[in-house]
Amino acid sequence: MFPSVRPRRLRRTPAIRRLVSETRPAPAELVLPMFVHEGLTEPRPITSLPGVVQHSRDSLRKAAAEAVQAGIGGIMLFGIPTTRDEIGSAGTDPNGILNAAIRDVISEVGDATVVMSDLCLDEFTSHGHCGVLRPDGSVDNDATLQRYADMGLAQAEAGAHVLGPSGMMDGQVGVIREALDEAGHTDTAVLAYAAKYASAFFGPFREAVESTLQGDRKAYQQDPANLKEALREVALDLAEGADMVMVKPALPYLDVVSAVAESVDVPVAAYQVSGEYAMVEAAAANGWIERERVILEQLTSIRRAGAQIILTYWAVEAAQLLRRGY
Ligand code: PBG
Repeated sequence: MFPSVRPRRLRRTPAIRRLVSETRPAPAELVLPMFVHEGLTEPRPITSLPGVVQHSRDSLRKAAAEAVQAGIGGIMLFGIPTTRDEIGSAGTDPNGILNAAIRDVISEVGDATVVMSDLCLDEFTSHGHCGVLRPDGSVDNDATLQRYADMGLAQAEAGAHVLGPSGMMDGQVGVIREALDEAGHTDTAVLAYAAKYASAFFGPFREAVESTLQGDRKAYQQDPANLKEALREVALDLAEGADMVMVKPALPYLDVVSAVAESVDVPVAAYQVSGEYAMVEAAAANGWIERERVILEQLTSIRRAGAQIILTYWAVEAAQLLRRGY
């Protein structure tokens, strides 16, 4: 009449729940995306990402040092130039904002955390696409690859530990790896944004980098409907020499994270993107959800799905919450 098997026995006290907890994200697995804007003297808030700023070069150095103090696993740098052109020249210029910021951060924190850089042209092109355009306005895959190889070299020479190619061009990991190896940068690692979807969740990021994009990225980023295609992208990137692979966005694609994690033996990352962050901040600002609990529940879920590394704009705060035993 009464159950002898009672799962509730293991939920009775905080101590027993902690003992049997299967998943707990660790600060060292969190990576903070950071924006640095050329020419700024003060950090500037990003309206659609409350709590996130466009840094000046100085404030970026300080914030990077604070991120190290918080014990997070890494930072991912994005640069916003003051001038853009058709081919994204500022991305390959050694003195371009992103390459200068990589050098700044490396001189500030050295090897105390992992310094990653976004390797894509969209912040640097006047048209906002991730590559160079053909006369008909479509993105020219193979002409873009040469730009990515040069950009990867510039970032490696600036000292980045890990390069994050995010443009979804076919063959991008292979050409970057080859360029790095030929130039002697054999120790620079590649985190491939292997399965990156053409997602509306990137909305606030466009404000963050002052994107000029007309149209969309559906001819190079993946269709949200497809899972098998993600596995194919991951396999290709690994064959081309990727050291780690990423799924992006995170929460709406946990099935993809899980399938990728089961199919590979390299570290799998997931990027909790700007729209995922903004939705929680907006709902919390209205008093509709418990902000800190929702943040940690989401990070736990992404971890449980199989992501070993999580890129999140809450990295520093989440690390502090986790340290407090939240
Ligand atoms: C491309 C890039 C984007 C994001 C990261 N790298 C934008 C895009 O592909 O449109 C989005 C990140 C986010 O939304 O938080 N450089």
